[in-house]
Amino acid sequence: MSRMTIPDIHEKYEHGEKLAMLTAYDAPIARQVDNSGVDMILVGDSAGDNHLGYDDTLQITLEEALSNTAAVDRAAENAMVIGDLPFLSYGSSMEESVKNAGRFIKEAGADAVKLETPPHGTTSIEIIDRLTELGMPVQGHIGLTPQRMNQIGGGYVQGRGDENSTTVEALIDTAEQIEEAGAFSLVLEAVTEETGKRIAEAVDIPTIGIGAGRYVDGQVLVITDALGLSKESYRLSKQYADLNSIISDAVESYVDEVQNGVFPAAENAFDPIDKDK
Ligand code: KIV
Repeated sequence: MSRMTIPDIHEKYEHGEKLAMLTAYDAPIARQVDNSGVDMILVGDSAGDNHLGYDDTLQITLEEALSNTAAVDRAAENAMVIGDLPFLSYGSSMEESVKNAGRFIKEAGADAVKLETPPHGTTSIEIIDRLTELGMPVQGHIGLTPQRMNQIGGGYVQGRGDENSTTVEALIDTAEQIEEAGAFSLVLEAVTEETGKRIAEAVDIPTIGIGAGRYVDGQVLVITDALGLSKESYRLSKQYADLNSIISDAVESYVDEVQNGVFPAAENAFDPIDKDK
């Protein structure tokens, strides 16, 4: 079976089928996510805080992001794999942006790349235009754009049109320009439900929401939040399992068995003669 393609994604969108995307950062989780029917796996820069132990997404390096993407690529057979361009791996020059995005496709095996665009962000819109012209599929990302966290000053919901939040109109205009530049889909992060709905109506590419309400074309969650591996929980997310408890129970049982001589048992030890044991 081959991986989901852009025509497959667009066909589902045209038929009004909701699209499911999850993040993954390593092969074991990517294998599970891939086998469970998601359309797209995003190897997000959220790996920074959710996988690599940094404070936020800003610190993840290009090499780390490429290594995560390559691990997911090796595991994924069905879902489209999207590599997320880290902070400052794009934007300093067109040449650098094309070269770095190209490494996700050529070296890490991604099927597409994602990059963030601030309201009316002409630089990243030009980059989307160039990448798509060269044959690199791009997923846009607007609304709350964590790579600008130092500028925004916090996780403010966007589309409210106040001092911490851009207007719906600015987001719609940016979404339309991203579509025009050739992006095949668009992530909307932490926007009011009304904003999500209006953007989804304004563009003709699938909108994938995370905290964008019910009227967009698909959803994405950060896998560690969905599986209960995160330190905090967020209103925009939903926890579908409690892996923190499952893992700590398992590790406590292991430690207990080692300390009490229960593990290893005879069945875990090798016989000097019988090669089946
Ligand atoms: O890096 C990431 O996980 C993301 C999603 C929140 C869309 O960009």
